[in-house]
Amino acid sequence: MTVLVTGGAGYIGAHVVRLLQERGDSVVVVDDLSSGIAEHVGSAALVHLDLSTQEAVDKLEGILNEYSVDAVIHIAAKKQVGESAERPAWYYAQNVGGFSHLLQAMQNAGVDKMMFSSSAATYGLPNLPPGQLLTEDTAPNPISPYGETKLVCEWMMRAAGKAWGLRGVGLRYFNVAGAGWPELGDPAVMNLIPIALKALTSGRQPVIFGQDYPTEDGTCIRDYIHVLDLAEAHLKALDYLGRDDRPYDIFNVGTGTGSSVLDVLKQLAASTGYDLQPTIAGRRPGDPAALVADVSRIQDVLGWKFTRGLAEMTDSAWEAWAPVHGAPAVLPASAG
Ligand code: UFG
Repeated sequence: MTVLVTGGAGYIGAHVVRLLQERGDSVVVVDDLSSGIAEHVGSAALVHLDLSTQEAVDKLEGILNEYSVDAVIHIAAKKQVGESAERPAWYYAQNVGGFSHLLQAMQNAGVDKMMFSSSAATYGLPNLPPGQLLTEDTAPNPISPYGETKLVCEWMMRAAGKAWGLRGVGLRYFNVAGAGWPELGDPAVMNLIPIALKALTSGRQPVIFGQDYPTEDGTCIRDYIHVLDLAEAHLKALDYLGRDDRPYDIFNVGTGTGSSVLDVLKQLAASTGYDLQPTIAGRRPGDPAALVADVSRIQDVLGWKFTRGLAEMTDSAWEAWAPVHGAPAVLPASAG
């Protein structure tokens, strides 16, 4: 099978590309290289293209035809929640505009299979009783333009299914972490683990945003998923598109288990050997106390389950981080 992966040079995309290549699929990557790294696509063909530009429809149609693409995995998107609140029009142009161009090109070229990277950000601040998991039927209620764009794209995918028979499936990612290979670590410093690694290797202590949440240790709980497990879910989702019985088009991808910010930082201290004495700061606006996925649908229907836990995420994140960003020769305190 030949697969077009948009955003295939990025952190998650590069893991998907590598797994596809390992199983013998041909891969073409389209990426604007705004955050992706060209070397990370391996032997895949790489086309440098911003999907939101006017010329994108014709260019994409040409690529789909030239490489006889069978299916598209659409990962390319802007993903910074805070930035999306500052530049909503640009986020819509990038994420929804790019998606619209891709759909048009797929329809023109007669490519009818799409796997779309959605996000738990579509749920927003769910009003659930403590301990209750988020199912795909929990009402979406995004609280950021970023989350809105992901939800709109899910709707567009569904509408294209009705209008011209697109076979679409969306994966709602929870909190992605770790590295499947040390050279494919997350190059951005936007989420808890990279931010904490940056602090620790710069001689600072990580900051916890709020320890007064209604959780066991008072810090926010999230569902952390290893990027390689997530990438494997993409392959399962792609295979699902070949099935005639497809009862659902949206799946959560998580572990079904929550970890608090403190849990993550303790695990990171164990992985790195750093002494951990985090600073407690005030709450970050827009953070729900707990977001944990119900993963029964993806387990039952796609036959996918996570196999890597938090320790593998922090260990692999550290293995990827240390060679690039350097670690002091002598680690503070608990280092051996
Ligand atoms: N946090 C800290 N200190 C930091 C950074 C983060 O305490 O220095 C906390 C946050 O307050 C939050 C948790 O760590 O409670 C995780 O924060 P991240 O910024 O890593 O991730 P978010 O849960 O805010 O969001 C991430 C992605 C979104 C996605 C969401 C899905 O960035 O795109 O997971 O759950 F939608």
